Parts: sequence; structure tokens; C-alpha cells
Amino acid sequence: MPLQHLSDDFSAQCFLVTLLVTLLSTSSDACGKPPKFENMQLNGSPKTSYMAGEQVQYSCRPGYRRRPSMKMSSVCAANGQWSPISKDACHKKSCPRLDDPTNGQVNYVNGSLEFGTQIQYTCNSGFFLIGEGTQYCLATGTDVEWSAEPPICSTILCKPPPNIINGVFSPSNKDVFEYNEVATYRCNQVPGQDELSLVGKRQIYCTENQKWSANPPECKVVRCPYPVIRNGRQTSGFRKKYSYRAQVTFQCNQGLFLHGSDTIMCEGNSTWQPPIPTCKSNPPPPPPTTSSTTNVSSVANSTGAPLDFGDLKRWSISLIMMAMLEI
Ligand SMILES: *[C@@H]1O[C@H](CO)[C@@H](O)[C@H](O)[C@H]1NC(C)=O
Ligand SMILES: *[C@@H]1O[C@H](CO)[C@@H](O)[C@H](O)[C@H]1NC(C)=O
Ligand SMILES: *[C@@H]1O[C@H](CO)[C@@H](O)[C@H](O)[C@H]1NC(C)=O
Ligand SMILES: *[C@@H]1O[C@H](CO)[C@@H](O)[C@H](O)[C@H]1NC(C)=O
Repeated sequence: MPLQHLSDDFSAQCFLVTLLVTLLSTSSDACGKPPKFENMQLNGSPKTSYMAGEQVQYSCRPGYRRRPSMKMSSVCAANGQWSPISKDACHKKSCPRLDDPTNGQVNYVNGSLEFGTQIQYTCNSGFFLIGEGTQYCLATGTDVEWSAEPPICSTILCKPPPNIINGVFSPSNKDVFEYNEVATYRCNQVPGQDELSLVGKRQIYCTENQKWSANPPECKVVRCPYPVIRNGRQTSGFRKKYSYRAQVTFQCNQGLFLHGSDTIMCEGNSTWQPPIPTCKSNPPPPPPTTSSTTNVSSVANSTGAPLDFGDLKRWSISLIMMAMLEI
């Protein structure tokens, strides 16, 4: 069987070669992957193992500049260690210093201009920022740059305020309003018809965020019901009609106590606020303490019987039982 013999011979040779290569490589592979650095990167891709005497080269990562005269290579030593390499070989590049924008400032919040740093722009009061307020020193290709164009500080302008039904605002001849500029509303009065009341803010102004300080007012007929109090009388504010902001006061008949406020006002929704008081034979409960936040305990005590959560629980349980029985 000459063919069989030949094949056996070949297998044996293959085995020997493999064994030799394995032995050689294990005995001379000294180092693992080369060290990694924040500011430097390896030239080429790393191998899993290196032989003693092998050298690797580093270069600066984007955003870093090489310090001349400093070594940027490392050699695999026989003891399995990579020869030391100074981390200072590459230092951060700096972005250009910036001028303050007109009517604003640039703030170096990290106290430097270096790669990775952050800056913030602010505008003087009355001006608003157009562009990027926060910027970073970023690596771009071979250099570093600020992440955006410098913003500008522009005067604050508002669009004219909203038009309203049955009313107008002034000045009415403007396309833009400046910061803090005021628009004043008034209601159209139609002779022979019920007077329209201006409910809300008569004046609003243009604010920082280019919005008006409040919603526009409403022009509407406000008519509160004639104020009637039983067992008492009105003492002031007599009118034929009670319109917006009309105020009246009351007094109870001799020997009776007033529950509620003795002074009430006609509000924009044609209701009395607070509601019309009542006259009763018993005195009203003492008014709650004004600063309820600081005197929580006394308020809690004055509300009468303490809340028993055990009772509450029993209550809920019986309610649920009842509901179940109904079904
Ligand atoms: C820069 O300062 C800002 C604000 O104080 C901070 O959030 C950020 O982490 C700082 N960045 C660096 C790189 O120090
Ligand atoms: C009327 O307005 C007052 C506040 O001005 C409010 O407290 C009251 O709930 C309003 N009543 C109705 C019916 O809308
Ligand atoms: C809280 O109540 C006590 C009496 O209970 C009183 O002496 C104290 O002045 C009250 N504090 C405030 C802030 O009203
Ligand atoms: C409130 O009640 C608690 C006990 O329930 C008592 O210790 C405390 O003195 C009371 N406070 C007032 C202001 O009455």
C-alpha cells in the first residue's frame, strides 16, 4: 500500500511542524495588547500578542497636539511589560479666545479654552440670544473649533398683542413692540347698550421670552344679581345696577351674627365674591389662623374631632360589602 504509506508520512510531518510553531510562539510571545491612552492612539490595529523587542508607535488623538521631543513609541520587553511612555506626549489643543458679543458676555465656565471645554453666552437684560448659548471646543479634522458660530444679542421684540372682541389696544400702529413696552386695552362702548367691562389686565407688556406678560383682557357685560341679605341690610354701595367691581357692605339686624364677609365685590363672571353673607343667631366659628403653614398643629386641633383612619377603613370596608351585596 504505497499510497497509504505516503499519506501517513505527510500527517506526521504536519503534526511536527505545528508542534514546533506552537512551542516557538509560546516561548517568545512576551506582551499582550499595548496600553491605551486618552490622548494617544496606536498606529495600526493592535495584535493580541507581541514578541519581545517588538515596537509600537502612537500618535496624538484628535483634539491633542504633540509635544516635540517626547517619545511616542513603546517596546515589548522580555519580562512581558511595555516600556513606559509619558502621557504628556500629547496635550489638549485650545480653541481661539472669543470676544464678548455686543450687548452680552461670553463666560468661560470651565476656566479654559482647551479641547472639551464649555462656554456660555449671556445677553444683557433687554436683549435675547439668537444662536447657540452653550458651546464646546470640539475636534474638527486636524484642529479644534467652537461648536457653533458666536450667537448675537438682539433687542427683545414682541409681535403685536392679540386682538379682542368688543375692544382695542393701543398703540395700534406698530408691527413690533420692544422689551417692556406696554399695550393698553379699552372696551368699545356702544351708546344705548349695556356698558362693557374690561375684565382682566388693562395693560400688558412685552417680556424676555418675546411673549406678553399676561393674556389680554375681555370686554363683556358684567351684571351681578341685586344683593339681598335676609335679617340684615346693605350699608353702602347702593346702585341701580351692579356691574364689574361694584362693592357693597352689609350689617345684620340687632342681635344677629354675620357669617361670611361683610364686604363683597361683583366679579368678572357676574358673581359676588366672596358670596353674600348670612345673618344667624349663633356666632360664626373663629376664623382659621392666617399663617396655616407655620401653625399647622393649632389649625388641625381647631377642626374638631381628630380624623380616625381606623374608622375610615371600617367605613370603606362596609361600603364595599354593601356594594357587593347590591350586585
Ligand atoms: C464645564 O462646566 C460645566 C458647568 O459648570 C460642567 O457641567 C462641565 O462638566 C464642565 N466641563 C468640563 C470639561 O470640565
Ligand atoms: C367666578 O370667579 C371667581 C373668581 O373671580 C371664582 O372664585 C368663582 O368660582 C367663579 N364662579 C363661577 C360660577 O365661575
Ligand atoms: C402660632 O400659634 C401660637 C399659639 O398657638 C402663637 O403663639 C404664635 O404666635 C403663632 N405663630 C404664628 C406665626 O402665627
Ligand atoms: C393640638 O393637639 C395636641 C394633641 O392632640 C396637643 O398636644 C397640642 O398642644 C394641641 N395644640 C394646640 C395649639 O392646641
